Amino acid sequence: MPHSRHEPQATRTHRSEHPPVSTAQPIARTSPPPLIAKTPGAPVGAHIASFAYYLPEQVITNAELARLVDTSDEWILARTGIRSRRRAADTEATSDLAIAAARRALADARTDAAELDTILVATATPDSPVPAVACIVQAGLGAVNAAAMDIGAGCSGFLFALHTAACFTRAGAAQRILVLGAETLTRVTDYSDRRSCILFGDGAGAAIVTAHPEQRADNLGLELLYSQLGTDGEMADLIEIPAGGSRIPASEASIRDHGHFIRLDGQRVFKQAVRRMAEAAVDAMNALNLKPADIDWLLPHQANARIVVSVAEQTGIAPARAMLDMAETGNTSAASIPITLGRARDSGQLQPGQVVMMLAFGAGLTWACQVWRVCAPAN
Ligand SMILES: CC(C)(COP(=O)(O)OP(=O)(O)OC[C@H]1O[C@@H](n2cnc3c(N)ncnc32)[C@H](O)[C@@H]1OP(=O)(O)O)[C@@H](O)C(=O)NCCC(=O)NCCS
Repeated sequence: MPHSRHEPQATRTHRSEHPPVSTAQPIARTSPPPLIAKTPGAPVGAHIASFAYYLPEQVITNAELARLVDTSDEWILARTGIRSRRRAADTEATSDLAIAAARRALADARTDAAELDTILVATATPDSPVPAVACIVQAGLGAVNAAAMDIGAGCSGFLFALHTAACFTRAGAAQRILVLGAETLTRVTDYSDRRSCILFGDGAGAAIVTAHPEQRADNLGLELLYSQLGTDGEMADLIEIPAGGSRIPASEASIRDHGHFIRLDGQRVFKQAVRRMAEAAVDAMNALNLKPADIDWLLPHQANARIVVSVAEQTGIAPARAMLDMAETGNTSAASIPITLGRARDSGQLQPGQVVMMLAFGAGLTWACQVWRVCAPAN
């Protein structure tokens, strides 16, 4: 059997020899992190015309995991809120999930792939290191007029990609952007590590971002009111896939040491996730002059139900307004927010006029907060 994560491991990350930045003194910010905020008379200029998701068919239940590692359905459900997660078929790569979600979003927006000018894919699990998943998606959709690239910001990737798309539309650099969060995390999950293998699942979500409101037919749309990003690279080793890159290239040793799988320090990640997302939420409410009661839905990254509830409690937002959608999907990293958004629409939770706060946190460490208003279907 593979070894426990506590044994010495040759592929433990060997970071560069640069001296670490002292943490004795807090580092004063000289400029605010990237921010987009709506001010009176100044529209943000970014809308979601349609959104969709795709989940592969195969299911991994807690009971199946309990046959692989020393765990139980009761423990997993109580500690994470997860009952099962999806697994991509052997024939499905990340781009296949992304294309399936994208086709649904394009159909809902009555948009031909050739009308897209940009494709952004947020992923931590690309088909291969080169080329970018976005390029494979471009070809798969026949989006011949789109430039395509990937964005890597861990579980925060979808909001980082939406923020990038909003900057493009605001600048007039793009008109119709396909933004995707797509992951096949089960391919990088260590099914001998009970602390992490219980968490992750596969899936993809898509949004079509436009400069002006364009939602069609019976589509709900969203209008961006606020977006802010954050990063703390000093804590990069809390969530990592240490091998397979330039510091620890693939080798027999890296495979033996499970270096190609996700490792995480669950407890420290948990605390950072709650702290960073709660701070980001409060910053957003202050910037927009909103009270917790003004947030109709808190839509956080679906890492762990206890994290979501803690964030709600710390921000004063009623836990009943916090979307909990990990029970059948697990943590799908960059795909989790668009999957949750799509499932909330399908279940009738989203209504025109509502204010939705999205919160993300993930490897990097990275975090992000966006506030959107749900828009009525256009005629
Ligand atoms: C991973 C996570 C679910 C673990 O839950 P936790 O409550 O923090 O559990 P701990 O790590 O404190 O472990 C508590 C005990 O349960 C045990 N345990 C850990 N995983 C277990 C499992 N799958 N089944 C049964 N027991 C388990 C531990 O060994 C420990 O036992 P000990 O006290 O005898 O040492 C939780 O920390 C978490 O969700 N973290 C953040 C999620 C994350 O990393 N997301 C990725 C990026 S967003």
